[in-house]
Amino acid sequence: MSLHLALFLETTGCHYSGWRMPGAAQANPADWATIKSLAQKAEAAKFDLIFMADKLSVDDIYGESVVEAVRHRVTERPEPFSVLSAIGAVTEKIGLAGTVSSSVIQPFAAARTLATLDHLTGGRAGWNVVTSTSDAEAANFGQTLLGHELRYQKAAAFIQAVRTLWTAGRITLSWPIASRGSMRTVNVSAMPTSILRGSRAVARSICRAHRRATR
Ligand SMILES: Cc1cc2nc3c(=O)[nH]c(=O)nc-3n(C[C@H](O)[C@H](O)[C@H](O)COP(=O)(O)O)c2cc1C
Repeated sequence: MSLHLALFLETTGCHYSGWRMPGAAQANPADWATIKSLAQKAEAAKFDLIFMADKLSVDDIYGESVVEAVRHRVTERPEPFSVLSAIGAVTEKIGLAGTVSSSVIQPFAAARTLATLDHLTGGRAGWNVVTSTSDAEAANFGQTLLGHELRYQKAAAFIQAVRTLWTAGRITLSWPIASRGSMRTVNVSAMPTSILRGSRAVARSICRAHRRATR
């Protein structure tokens, strides 16, 4: 049996109000010196993975009030994959995983971001797919939050779509990504027909991504 360790990277601490304590080490969620130091310590301590959670809006849930949320919580967090890319440049081996919202992010965008991180870091990228739970997150993308069941149906189609974008036939971005032992290529132009049998909303978004990629 082996033990795997992951660092839940929160520069301000995992308690939402920890940053307000006198003597709190860091109140800035995007402080690079702190991020770099924590990442390098995790790698030196033989951790397998650094994980960055994400929420795509200022919190609108805590205390059922934006005012309460802003008063008590760290309300903004840095975009995980930008930070993970920077961490990749100052570490050698540790895995780098971030949260992706299947409810508001387009499969094409997610596939491209993750493939880029994977490529830059020699195959160290990972993802945590969530469906997002707040109206504010959907609103920030001009959308309305779907109900629970629909969100999870969309998530299943989203994951399939992203995987298809990574693995389907033809190549236009011709750089290879190292993927757990086998070299694959990132495909952004082939029409992922298998997806079209899934959710219509996802199929439409894939078609839009395809049109943009091949314009
Ligand atoms: C390990 C772990 C990490 C999570 N990370 C995130 C995250 O980064 N962003 C987020 O919005 N939700 C995150 N969640 C919440 C889940 O996506 C999910 O919404 C939650 O577990 C409630 O389940 P439900 O969606 O079925 O109501 C996380 C949950 C777990 C257990």
